[in-house]
Amino acid sequence: MFSPFLKPCPCILLFLLFTLFYTSTEAYDPLDPNGNITIKWDIISWTQDGYVAVVTLNNYQQYRHISPPGWSLGWTWAKKEVIWNIVGGQTTEQGDCSRFKSSPPPHCCKKDPTVVDLLPGTPYNQQIANCCRGGVLSSLAQDPTNAVSAFQVSVGSSGTTNKTVKLPQNFTLKAPGPGYTCGPAKIVKPTKFRTPDKRRVTQAHMTWNVTCTYSQFLAQKTPTCCVSLSAFYNETVVPCPTCSCGCQGNSPQSGSCVDPSAPHLASVVSSLGKNGITPLVRCTSHMCPIRVHWHVKLNYKEYWRVKVTVTNFNYRMNYSDWNLVIQHPNFDNLTQLFSFNYDSISPYGTISKCG
Ligand SMILES: *[C@@H]1O[C@H](CO)[C@@H](O)[C@H](O)[C@H]1NC(C)=O
Ligand SMILES: *[C@@H]1O[C@H](CO)[C@@H](O)[C@H](O)[C@H]1NC(C)=O
Ligand SMILES: *[C@@H]1O[C@H](CO)[C@@H](O)[C@H](O)[C@H]1NC(C)=O
Ligand SMILES: *[C@@H]1O[C@H](CO)[C@@H](O)[C@H](O)[C@H]1NC(C)=O
Ligand SMILES: *[C@@H]1O[C@H](CO)[C@@H](O)[C@H](O)[C@H]1NC(C)=O
Ligand SMILES: *[C@@H]1O[C@H](CO)[C@@H](O)[C@H](O)[C@H]1NC(C)=O
Ligand SMILES: *[C@@H]1O[C@H](CO)[C@@H](O)[C@H](O)[C@H]1NC(C)=O
Repeated sequence: MFSPFLKPCPCILLFLLFTLFYTSTEAYDPLDPNGNITIKWDIISWTQDGYVAVVTLNNYQQYRHISPPGWSLGWTWAKKEVIWNIVGGQTTEQGDCSRFKSSPPPHCCKKDPTVVDLLPGTPYNQQIANCCRGGVLSSLAQDPTNAVSAFQVSVGSSGTTNKTVKLPQNFTLKAPGPGYTCGPAKIVKPTKFRTPDKRRVTQAHMTWNVTCTYSQFLAQKTPTCCVSLSAFYNETVVPCPTCSCGCQGNSPQSGSCVDPSAPHLASVVSSLGKNGITPLVRCTSHMCPIRVHWHVKLNYKEYWRVKVTVTNFNYRMNYSDWNLVIQHPNFDNLTQLFSFNYDSISPYGTISKCG
């Protein structure tokens, strides 16, 4: 719960953050028009039969983060490439490596490998910088230093020069469910790396980028939260509209919800499983995994104050490090905020609009 303490002032501005805010139906978010996740491959050395590359995922989204169980990145090799070794990550499957007689065998021989991050606590000799956070990727507004993730891959049976290497194709990014669409890999200017003492600059032998954008519509057809309202001068609470995120017994996902008064609630929930991407919600008239309640506490000419309460109805999620995005015409002059951090993420910084 927190209470923004505001002065009336014009301007579109917004505010803290939440995992999934229902905003648009396309791969374009009006609240974060430039947001994307960029995947960069830097070839740092050529080997006898291929190359070693550092693959970096940068989250350039203001408020959308990837929470546990984390990202997974897939692609399709253009030729008969093989992954000899990965540091700071692993493929989910090895595939059929029987054509290789080497010992140890390759890490992965699949035509379409899927890589996931390693978990925190991985031994140091299997780590590289920015790896091993269990696939968690913060957003720029929340924690820019943890908005990057990386692993190093040794590829064989590929080209060994920048003319013979073929770029991997059909990238997929799961977070962990659907939602992201990735474009084709594009060769870009080789990345320059500065040594820690800043006295020398080295550069990648070859670099390509892939950009992935998020679409709420691809992730989930129904909204993930609804808003209820109340005010100090009226006892009536205006609840979330019925069927905001689905209707009981008739939800587009599954229609299933859990009655909180059911006996043995804990065992019911655990038998339905913690895994799965679709939320497992408590039965309510709105069927939303999240309810945001906006209570007007004070309303003076000079300022107003609201208390916002966020309630989780999803038995499958504990929502750590969550954020909530609120768009409000007065939020560029938030004078006081209790209990929470906030950041203003103005996509239309210079446009003033009175309301
Ligand atoms: C990805 O996001 C970055 C940072 O906002 C932006 O500079 C870049 O143009 C975006 N890329 C694409 C392809 O939209
Ligand atoms: C490949 O390398 C050559 C020489 O090192 C360089 O001139 C050329 O621009 C590179 N091409 C690409 C696509 O990186
Ligand atoms: C990549 O995806 C496109 C469209 O789905 C498909 O036509 C193509 O065959 C795929 N390429 C590979 C190498 O799988
Ligand atoms: C490629 O990605 C890197 C890292 O995300 C970024 O700094 C660079 O601007 C991108 N290059 C292009 C041409 O998009
Ligand atoms: C309180 O709000 C409800 C719903 O908006 C309205 O119907 C009712 O008349 C209000 N009561 C008073 C005393 O203003
Ligand atoms: C959420 O946290 C509670 C208490 O720590 C734990 O019992 C429960 O299993 C967690 N649920 C999920 C879905 O992780
Ligand atoms: C925000 O409020 C402060 C203190 O009330 C005031 O001095 C300042 O001018 C306001 N800023 C804007 C942009 O309205």
